[in-house]
Amino acid sequence: MADSKKLYIKTYGCQMNVYDSERIAEALASDGYEQTQDQSEADMVLLNTCHIREKAAEKVYSDLGRLKPLHDEKPDLKIAVAGCVAQAEGAEIMRRQPMVDLVVGPQTYHRLPAMMEQVRSGQQALDTDFPEEDKFDHLPKRVLPARNPSAFLTVQEGCDKFCAFCVVPYTRGAEVSRPAARILKEAEALTERGVREITLLGQNVNAYHGHKDGLAGLIWELSEIDALKRIRFTTSHPNDMDDALIEAHGTCDKLMPYLHLPVQSGSDRILKAMNRKHTADQYRALIARIRDARPDLMFSGDFIVGFPGETDADFEATMQLVRDVHYGQAYSFKYSARPGTPAAEKEDVPADVATERLHRLQELLSAQQYATQASMVGRDVHVLFEKKGRQDGQLIGKSDYLHAVHCDAPVEMIGTVQRVSISKSMTNSLTGILAK
Ligand code: 5AD
Ligand code: SF4
Repeated sequence: MADSKKLYIKTYGCQMNVYDSERIAEALASDGYEQTQDQSEADMVLLNTCHIREKAAEKVYSDLGRLKPLHDEKPDLKIAVAGCVAQAEGAEIMRRQPMVDLVVGPQTYHRLPAMMEQVRSGQQALDTDFPEEDKFDHLPKRVLPARNPSAFLTVQEGCDKFCAFCVVPYTRGAEVSRPAARILKEAEALTERGVREITLLGQNVNAYHGHKDGLAGLIWELSEIDALKRIRFTTSHPNDMDDALIEAHGTCDKLMPYLHLPVQSGSDRILKAMNRKHTADQYRALIARIRDARPDLMFSGDFIVGFPGETDADFEATMQLVRDVHYGQAYSFKYSARPGTPAAEKEDVPADVATERLHRLQELLSAQQYATQASMVGRDVHVLFEKKGRQDGQLIGKSDYLHAVHCDAPVEMIGTVQRVSISKSMTNSLTGILAK
């Protein structure tokens, strides 16, 4: 192996990028790179970028600009750009920032070692293909020690839904599912490293078709791995919530009672313009069916306000849907036009109107989030302890409902699921004591 060099990765955006960054670090480990959290000591800085919302590319260019002095000081410093901005911008990145050595799209980072050869010989390397092969098959086995009992595992990438506002079908390409057998192997290897909870990732994860029985089939097989205690998945499209998956929420003990199910808007007119292919009432009916299967399930969602053409009445319909569903947690965004998407052609809602709507929606969603959290006080919940807390003797973990929980407990309990009686709800977390 080559001399040890330091790699600093900055990850933007979604959990899939967090997973990708881990796998990129593993791919570059074979090239002698060891990860560091300190950019100033890095021999290589890699920006793993996200393109989902506005100004993503500009943010990357300004981050690159900020790296310039470090590069001037250390001319041997390698600079790489990965992820969806790399995919979208390609060679433009090197044109605007010639110090960049390497640009790699989200589907080709298994080719990084070969690209590094090119970089070492003094050339710039660019690869933004959508190759036939599964990059994960060509990446090194996950041999690093587990850092956390909870891990992400990408099972599906890309999206065929073409929501009118979204760049994902263009940056990540068509839906591709990894075969179940490979995922099971990777999951087993993760549990051997101490992982007890796996979150299955996909841009449209419930459209997974790498198992003959879809995502539910994969979940049932994963649930047979003894050492694996918890399974989650994200992100889902309402139209892909099939019967088997809903049933699994009711009957599979290891599948956690939390579901991120974005709806984006509560107005049928806007849903249609967004190309979501379902109505608000169909979404309500789906929520009711899932709650029938698992009454305590906590819902999370994504919302966009100020989509082109959104009227006050459309926005009120979104507010009503939020009141009807009652989310435990949610993300909300002001619409931003993404070049190349169908909605980008349409006229924007005035910025101040969109801002005001976003504030109102966020107030409502925060109130629901606090209420859900507060409703945990006095209850016993299961917590997977993940790490030490700031205070001596305290551990931090996640409840079944994904709330962060602080609790005094022996350090040996890291990596185990315990019952905790919740005594207090704080802004972003809960406190409790080990249940008798
Ligand atoms: N503008 C605002 N929000 C967007 N999202 C995706 N594209 C856009 C856009 N152009 C949001 C959606 C999606 C989440 C990941 O990001 O709510 O579910
Ligand atoms: Fe984008 Fe999700 Fe719509 Fe796919 S389903 S186009 S990833 S918002």
